[in-house]
Order: sequence, then structure tokens, then C-alpha cells
Amino acid sequence: MRDDGQAAALLRWYDRHHRVMPWRVAPADRAAGVVPDPYRVWLSEVMLQQTTVAAVRDYFRRFTDRWPTVTDLAAAEDAAVMGEWAGLGYYARARNLLKCARAVVAEHGGRFPTTREGLLSLPGIGPYTAAAVAAIAYDEPATVVDGNVERVMARYFAVDTPMPTAKPELVALAERLTPRQRPGDYAQAVMDLGATICTPRNPACGICPWMAGCAARERGVAADLPRKLAKATKPDRRGTLWLARVGDAFVLERRPDKGLLGGMLGFPGDGWDGAGGTEPIAAGWRELGEVRHVFTHFNLYLRVMTADLPEGTLPDRGELVPRSAFRPGDLPTVMRKAWDLASSAFPPR
Ligand code: ADE
Repeated sequence: MRDDGQAAALLRWYDRHHRVMPWRVAPADRAAGVVPDPYRVWLSEVMLQQTTVAAVRDYFRRFTDRWPTVTDLAAAEDAAVMGEWAGLGYYARARNLLKCARAVVAEHGGRFPTTREGLLSLPGIGPYTAAAVAAIAYDEPATVVDGNVERVMARYFAVDTPMPTAKPELVALAERLTPRQRPGDYAQAVMDLGATICTPRNPACGICPWMAGCAARERGVAADLPRKLAKATKPDRRGTLWLARVGDAFVLERRPDKGLLGGMLGFPGDGWDGAGGTEPIAAGWRELGEVRHVFTHFNLYLRVMTADLPEGTLPDRGELVPRSAFRPGDLPTVMRKAWDLASSAFPPR
């Protein structure tokens, strides 16, 4: 059964309280015929799977300044895209981003397919992104379900099943509410509701447009939902990173495309990614300290070793990157942490 009354109440709220985002077409503009750019919608959705709206803004601006269209992005150098992505994490996404842009250009003449099914056929586009782009860019009545939407549905329908078991149930409930009218605005409205009112810890039920009809609010359990199974604790992994300067160049190594930090430039290491490895260059190493980084499936502790060598020695692993070409901002976050710890060990020559 479809309940368009609820959707209408949410859309009225969204018309007044939608968040302003650089990739978003405001509801009044949309009603006046402004059409969102699928490239910008797609790019923002891929980035938003990594982090918050606030953090994505700057990345989005830099990407779209440098690559204003999907054709520009498709023609970019891999390393340039990986560099701009640095810090967003989960680097397989950046590689898939490029693959997708290139497929749009090579197979679709530089235009994104206009249906959910067409979008799903592209590399790196899964059910979430396909639904989000179809709804937001093309106003298809696709149901978009991210973590925010799951939380909103779990509360509105007071679903007691713990996550992640509840996921299919929450998708079915979300589908039930998706309206035929303005599905793109509606999709963004549910996400905004989850991000600003139906928040994880202290939901602002008193000002919620879905207050009437919310089963969790009625039972006073909104803040307790969705339920979660107790999490297994993350294992710890330990290893070493070697930061060496040779003359005025640093020893860096591009990581294999597959696996952790795939395709990213970093310092040679050992013992933490299962790949093994030895010191990249013969040197008297100095232990500087330790950096810690939390990955999805483990906590990582890396011992940071440094060596400062005169020009002339060749590394056994990696490559020599002159200081002038070395951009610490292009490193993935864990490598950047090691650099921040160690950079003072390398005063200007
Ligand atoms: N989170 C992910 N995508 C979003 C969108 N389009 N609007 C609001 N929040 C989001």
C-alpha cells in the first residue's frame, strides 16, 4: 500500500529546510525546470559513500574544477585522480570512478545512461548509486537506501530486527513510501531528514515532519533504533614503514592495484598488509615513533623508521621521487600520518 500523504509532508518540509549542496538543484529551481547534471550527482554520491557532506564539499569542488565533465575525468591520468582522492579512503572507489567515467565515454558517447538498469551496467555502480542517480538526476521513482534512510525507516515502522539482518526489510518499507511525484526530491529529503533530524543519538522528534505516524516515537524508542548486533572487536595489526630520503628525493612506492590502498603512492612497508617486504634501502634506520590508523576491518599500528642518506644510493624497492615532485597531500591518510610524524627528520638540505 502506498502512502503518498507521508511523502507529501516530507516534501513540504524539504522545500523549506533542504540542505544546500554544490551538486544539488534546489527544489524551487527543479520545479522551474533546472535539470541536475548526472555527472555531478554521480560524483557526489560516490564521494558521499565515503564520508560526510561537510567533508565532501572540498573534494567535490576540486574534482569538478579540474574535471568539469565526465569526458574530462575519463581523460585524466590515474595518478592525478588517486592524488585528488587521497584522504577520502577506500581507494578502490577512486579506481572504479575512473573506470566508470571511461565506460561512459567509450560506450555511451559521454552521456550517463538514464535508467537504473542502464546505470547498473556501468563498472563500479552498484544498486545504491544506480538508484540515487536515477532518482536525483532523472526523477525516476527509484528507492534510495543509505544508512540514514535505514535509520529513518527502522524508526518510522519501529522495526526491532537488528542490523544488518533488517536491511531487506527496511528496503521493502522504504519502497512502500517512495512516491511517484518528485521521487528525486523525495530521495534527498529522506536522507536530509536522517542527517539533520532523525539523527543516530538524539533525534529531534519534536520538529520532525514525520512525527505523526512514527511508530518508534509513539513507543518512545526512537533513539534505541535501529538495533545492532554486538560488534566483534576489530583485530590489531602491526607493521613498519620506512621513510628514506636520498639526497633531495624520497623513496616512495606505488602500491599494487588490488588490495589495501590499491594504486596509491606510499612509503614502503612490511608486516601489515600481508604482502611482506624488506627495507627499501640499506641504511642505519632510526625509529621515530608509531602511527595508528583505523581501517574498516582492523586497527593498524605502524612503526615509523627514517633514514637520511647522501645522494648516490639506489633503493632496492620503490622509486626516488624528488622533493619538488613529492606532494604529501596526495598520500593516503595513514601514509600522511607517518609523513606528519617524520617530516621534521628531513630538514631542507
Ligand atoms: N547522502 C548521500 N547522498 C545524499 C544526498 N543526495 N542528499 C543528502 N544526503 C546524502
